[in-house]
Amino acid sequence: LGALSRQFSTQMPLSRSEILKCIGDKPISEDKALFERANDVTKSVYGNKVFLRGIIEFSNHCAKNCNYCGIRRDHPDPERYEMSQDDILETIKWAHEKRYAGILLQSGEVGTQDRVDFVADTLKKARKLTGDKVRYILSLGELTDDQYYQLLQAGADRYLLRMETSNPALYAKLHPQDGHHDWLKRLNCVKSLVGMGYQVATGVMTGLPGQTKDDLADDIEMFNELGIDMIGLGPYIPQVKTPTADAWMAERGRDSIELTADDKAKMLLDTIRMLATIRLCNPDVNIAATTALQALKDDGREWALESGANVVMPILTPKTFRAEYQLYQNKPCIDDSASECMGCMDRRVRSIGKTLCFGELGDPKHFTDR
Ligand code: 5AD
Ligand code: SF4
Repeated sequence: LGALSRQFSTQMPLSRSEILKCIGDKPISEDKALFERANDVTKSVYGNKVFLRGIIEFSNHCAKNCNYCGIRRDHPDPERYEMSQDDILETIKWAHEKRYAGILLQSGEVGTQDRVDFVADTLKKARKLTGDKVRYILSLGELTDDQYYQLLQAGADRYLLRMETSNPALYAKLHPQDGHHDWLKRLNCVKSLVGMGYQVATGVMTGLPGQTKDDLADDIEMFNELGIDMIGLGPYIPQVKTPTADAWMAERGRDSIELTADDKAKMLLDTIRMLATIRLCNPDVNIAATTALQALKDDGREWALESGANVVMPILTPKTFRAEYQLYQNKPCIDDSASECMGCMDRRVRSIGKTLCFGELGDPKHFTDR
């Protein structure tokens, strides 16, 4: 463990074959040792602290048509909504009073200048309400460098843009080839964000139809090469009326997307293996215990927090809109209010002997050391 020092954030500490071993099938005792080691590395950098960010899903309009997603442009089910600026600011004010020091504004990818101007204006007003002791995180998808810069100037601190996969051919299968879903363009956005001085989070989905263990090992190498500050990793969960769900069923010879107990156990285990391996390769980044893990097992996020994750992101979206932001089936917390989510999260984190850090910015050491 001593060998996993700072130097390794720019250099891969595990060899390719070690990575493949860590993410692959192995006896339970070896998995357990991997998870414990990842937890020890996390504790050596962050102690027992779990950082907190609240997510406001302020609009489910999306111009993109990602084949796996429940709010893709052509999905017939979600009723499209847009929170008003007043409602967003009200939610931010509530979160600030509850000592959230990280607030994430997330929406589908729209990319229009009007949307960027709206978010920039909202950020400026939010800053006046909360002062500097809050990190604002944006997740609005692919934008131009000028737009990213405009948002940085307006007060954004961090940006979350998942690459979804490091494999351009797999990416092409998961997205319509209509000129609007381009892996290289997305990669360039991530690089621009890093270059501009944002704290940058990216991530991938695990268990995608057609994804191999080599793809996952490449994902881990991609995170290190990009110099990412935070990683958000979640299992792919099939959603009704989406093309990728059809591919998922075909891969298994099934006619339903219903997950069996075995499916859930395997998806969760594969994701936690990835998460723990990522931690060994990146001791000083922030790693999220994402909501999708809880969709597979009630204590999926706690398991992640004991295997390398150090961030949780409870949903703050007002209850009325939550059901319309169903990216995947059984998304948890749909019927909860923001305050219920917060109390629940606090209990969950305490149950594993860790502490939820209210009022702490929670910058990753990877960024503060830059
Ligand atoms: N299962 C799991 N995650 C999904 N996302 C979108 N659709 C799904 C799904 N069916 C994730 C993507 C996207 C983020 C907002 O949600 O990784 O970047
Ligand atoms: Fe839109 Fe994001 Fe869903 Fe793709 S994953 S359709 S960009 S909300």
